[in-house]
Amino acid sequence: MTRFYVTTPIYYVNAEPHLGHAYTTIIGDALTRWHRLLGDDVKFLTGTDEHGLKIQQAAEAANVTPQEFTDSIAPKFAEAWKKLNIANDDFIRTTEPRHKAAVAELLQRCYDAGDIELDKFAGKYCVACEEYYQDDELDKDTEGEANQCPIHHRAVEFFEEENYFFRLSRFEDRLLDWYAAHPTAMTPEQRGNEAIGLIKSGLRDFSISRTSLDWGVPLPWDDKHVTYVWYDALTNYLAAVGFGDGTDAYKDNWPADFHLIGKDIVRQHCVYWPAMLMSAGVEPPKGWAIGGWLLSGGEKMSKTAGNVVNPLDLIDDIGLDGFRYYVLADTAYGNDGDFTWEGLVGRYNSDLANNLGNLAARVATVVAKKCDGLGTAPDPDSPLAAVATQAYADTAAGWATVQPSRALDATWSLIRATNGHLEVNEPWKSEPGADVDRVMGDALEALRIVAVLVHPAMPDTAQALWERIGMTGNVVDQRLPAAAAWGQYTAGSVVTKGDALFPRIKL
Ligand code: ME8
Ligand code: MG
Repeated sequence: MTRFYVTTPIYYVNAEPHLGHAYTTIIGDALTRWHRLLGDDVKFLTGTDEHGLKIQQAAEAANVTPQEFTDSIAPKFAEAWKKLNIANDDFIRTTEPRHKAAVAELLQRCYDAGDIELDKFAGKYCVACEEYYQDDELDKDTEGEANQCPIHHRAVEFFEEENYFFRLSRFEDRLLDWYAAHPTAMTPEQRGNEAIGLIKSGLRDFSISRTSLDWGVPLPWDDKHVTYVWYDALTNYLAAVGFGDGTDAYKDNWPADFHLIGKDIVRQHCVYWPAMLMSAGVEPPKGWAIGGWLLSGGEKMSKTAGNVVNPLDLIDDIGLDGFRYYVLADTAYGNDGDFTWEGLVGRYNSDLANNLGNLAARVATVVAKKCDGLGTAPDPDSPLAAVATQAYADTAAGWATVQPSRALDATWSLIRATNGHLEVNEPWKSEPGADVDRVMGDALEALRIVAVLVHPAMPDTAQALWERIGMTGNVVDQRLPAAAAWGQYTAGSVVTKGDALFPRIKL
């Protein structure tokens, strides 16, 4: 069985989950479900990033210890993912012993390799990013001084410390060589090119430890220092597969197939991380899928910007699957997307209420009226057969390249063609008989295939559709590509109409 290991970023627990976090997590979930349909042995990891200054400050503001603070927020992420029907196999918290063991192991290996050294450092630091910045990377304030974080639009702070440094500067050629040998590792291509640009523009050593802070993992050889957020956080991907347990069992799941990340954390994931792994003698991941940002009012949605949308409020209004579909279908992965309520409702009404929902309803209505409510056999030579074959191929290609919007558009090509097939044949106008039976069999067969193909995006809807057309068993147990082959619908199955799958929503 093919193993498939996919991860989301581990989210900071300084705030509750928002739509931006949900975005990446839903993409990971859909990818996971697609690969399970392919029969892969999937491991899908998400979790929370709980150390560092930003969390310590949030805890101080709330007047509790950092541990109490993280214990109160981490479950909110786990609960949100449950409500969004996220099928993660594991949820890692950086405060867990297994994680700390992995961090200690990775640190020690890099230290032994001579790539971690003590040095003095002074610079401008954005606490919200947990990153140092150079002057030329910062925006100017009203006085013309370069001190504004380009992401958070707030003042950076001046820090001066004696830190351990990871000698990233030594890895420039090794990284470029590795990426040259693995040209499709980062997707989409334009985001990968940005990462290559970062490497080519020259790499600076980065600080991996602090002494002014105790909320972190101590360095194994010098416990006055705790590891710095990124070294700590990135290691979660290895910790969750058992790195640091004294065995090589982690290699069963490593290297990861895809790290799903936002474009805000490319430097850390596509530059720091593979270099850290090379230093430690661990293989870099096979792939990175880099998403754009969901914007609200033209700004990245973030706690700091104060423009967050709570995904759980949205599912109350539009339904869980309507929301998941919107998130996956509306933005080409890699590009920025603008979140608006009008956009959400517009997409829901056109693709779900008018297209898929309408198709399911009209098929059930005609089968009830003209076929005694029993499904009929598809035509092996139906013009829809070729459409279905193409739809499957394009859907598969979309998921394989982490382009959910393309995958869904390909699936929707079959829905659109089936609606068109009905409109051309107008079975509702004909007398019951062989012609109607054949057309309705074609439509039912198309819906059967659609039910399987929409499962990654809309698991509940897929199962409901499957049952309404009278199929037995569960969509999750179907296997692709076999289940997408034309001609498997069981004639004589009881077709039921039920309530509208996607009632139209008024703006
Ligand atoms: O960076 N649009 O955590 P974080 C789209 N702990 N995606 C968004 C988004 C938005 N407006 N806002 C957040 C961290 N995201 C670190 C990661 S990993 C070893 C450590 C998503 O809570 C996107 O995937 O700031 C982004 O990269 C991630 O959340 C950052 O979450
Ligand atoms: Mg962030």
